[in-house]
Amino acid sequence: MEKQQKSSHVVLVMVTFQGHLTPMLQLASLLHSKGFSITIVHPEFNSPNPSNHPEFTFISIPDKLTESHFSDKDAASPVWNLNKNCAAPLQQCLEKILHSLHHIAAVIYDTLMYSAQPITEDLGLLGIVLRTGSATTMLFYPAFSQLDEERIDFVYEIKSPELQALQLKRLRALLSQNATKAMTEVRVAFANVLKRSSAIIVNSMEFLEPEALSKVKQYSPAPIITIGPLHKFAPAICSSLLTEDDKCISWLNKQAPKSVIYVSFGSIVNFDKEELIEIAWGLSNSKQPFLWVVRPGMVRGSEWIESLPNGFEESVGERGCIVKWAPQKEVLAHAAVGGFWTHSGWNSTIESICEGVPMLCRPFFGDQHLNTSSICNVWKIGLELQNLERGNIERTIKRLLVDMEGNGIRKRAIDLKEKAAFYLMEEGSTSCSLNKLIKHILSV
Ligand code: UDX
Repeated sequence: MEKQQKSSHVVLVMVTFQGHLTPMLQLASLLHSKGFSITIVHPEFNSPNPSNHPEFTFISIPDKLTESHFSDKDAASPVWNLNKNCAAPLQQCLEKILHSLHHIAAVIYDTLMYSAQPITEDLGLLGIVLRTGSATTMLFYPAFSQLDEERIDFVYEIKSPELQALQLKRLRALLSQNATKAMTEVRVAFANVLKRSSAIIVNSMEFLEPEALSKVKQYSPAPIITIGPLHKFAPAICSSLLTEDDKCISWLNKQAPKSVIYVSFGSIVNFDKEELIEIAWGLSNSKQPFLWVVRPGMVRGSEWIESLPNGFEESVGERGCIVKWAPQKEVLAHAAVGGFWTHSGWNSTIESICEGVPMLCRPFFGDQHLNTSSICNVWKIGLELQNLERGNIERTIKRLLVDMEGNGIRKRAIDLKEKAAFYLMEEGSTSCSLNKLIKHILSV
């Protein structure tokens, strides 16, 4: 089998948003460590730096995306345009690779690059989809596809406590509010790509979402391979699109154990100046030390933090540290960090779980609402911030980090970390899943 792997070539079709690029590169490293040759095809925007990964071949395809696609408040707009613009160049690219190598063992594409699925099928190649979000999100796809009305009942007629706690009906109503044409089309495409791929890889752990996984397995024709948490399981890689500011680690070194609230809303979320001001005063009034990531351009209409209110810096002094981008995994593993105020992106969620850090959740769009529901209602390792008002922020931070009321949450977060560590052990399920994936790739 080893010899066969050495000559086997896998093509990965990546989407270059940070939260998607990282798990795809981690998967590439894992497969490479098992002897596969790797080619990564990616759109031009946010191109990964090939010199960080000399072991892979990178091919960039034109995406014709402009600034206006990203500044659109509709989160689905760049994804919809990406697929529309990349389909033809992707097809030519795969044909070229096939022509020169004569054989591609498998094409693994991100769910967001759904246009890769029909192309792969037309070329007679083995197509596998990587779902970088949770398995639970897949419960929504049959319901969103709209083509499959009877499946909607199948998804919502759920008796298990885990799935009832997710409040799927409420979330579906929330996600359906103001759904744009692009959003609706993208969701139908997601449902189809999951239905038509030969296997689905999910960056998750069986014990985290057992009921959702078993429900999804009932309607998915393809095998589901849970291979997470990729950031712990794959060899360490450099995947940050922004430069990490290490000064926050020396600042953390000076803080008391479990005293710091780390605040980061991932790589895509934007908010208004008024929200920045409430966050700033909430952090200041909580009296807890805080490490806050504010990406350049994150606050609408501002370059960076020039909209912070007068008197804020004086009031927090050395108690606050603001950076443009942090080494997040290192931060979450730091002994001084006692809580993570997050937008509940899936990567942030599993990174926090693996370090036993309880979460304060403020979801903005898409899967972040569902992840928040899992964090707060199913695993009970976080609190949802319902209202972005300074007094509420102050109270919720204290509840999460110091008040007696938060004891249970903090304890459950540690318990879940231990479960994840056990799951990752040599004989754990993640290694079995990788073997299953390799077998699937080599089966054709
Ligand atoms: C996007 C969507 O917003 C999210 O809902 C979906 O689940 C994945 O795609 P993003 O917003 O970037 O992702 O959030 P997340 O999934 O949490 O990924 C962010 C990544 O950037 C994490 O791996 C995190 O460690 C990293 N990060 C973030 C840093 O390294 N430094 C930072 O300062 C902030």
